[in-house]
Amino acid sequence: MPTPDPRPTLEAPDDDPHPWFSGPREVMVDWSELDNPDRELVERAQEASARAYAPYSLFAVGAAIRSRSGSVYTGANLENASSGLTICAEAAALTAANAAGDFALEAIAIVGFSFADTAAASRVVVPCGSCRQLISEVASLTQSDVRILCCSGELNNIVKATISQLLPNPFGPDNLGLPHQWPRLQGKLQARVKELIDLRLRKGQVPR
Ligand code: THU
Repeated sequence: MPTPDPRPTLEAPDDDPHPWFSGPREVMVDWSELDNPDRELVERAQEASARAYAPYSLFAVGAAIRSRSGSVYTGANLENASSGLTICAEAAALTAANAAGDFALEAIAIVGFSFADTAAASRVVVPCGSCRQLISEVASLTQSDVRILCCSGELNNIVKATISQLLPNPFGPDNLGLPHQWPRLQGKLQARVKELIDLRLRKGQVPR
């Protein structure tokens, strides 16, 4: 007789209402359990998904980031005929937060669905590995275990997690033997930009 495999099976049971999700059921939340700011964040992510450029995968993703100040930054996936160039919605939203100089991330909502397959609108999208790595680095800068709300297109299924749950033991500056030196370097960068702007203004005053 073969010895039974002690490992837990990843196969969903036949009566599983969420066969697309192999994680623990307790992380699933209902819309009614979300507070108003989180509901608004999820709605902003759903709205952002309409701005996806996804002619190849036909899979639209919208992301909305809320920072500690309450500001919200959104993004949508941006595909390209040169397939490796695709930018995920989360990366686009992070870029918007970066452009605003607001890295104090508190929560991120992600809504994704295939717009070619209406039956798939109940399936939750989770951030890809690269996006987890991107979020993780920004989260560690501000020492915030960013909350992530992963939603289906219809918003009828929502999974909540934190970045440390989605990416335990992340690769970071420690692995490179580097200290967290961005706050110091950022101060230096800002002082240099100020100098460059002052120089431009001074030159601008010189009559031609
Ligand atoms: N996508 C995202 O925007 N975020 C993710 O975390 C998963 C994948 C996009 C990339 C591509 O445009 C499409 O979904 C299908 O992979």
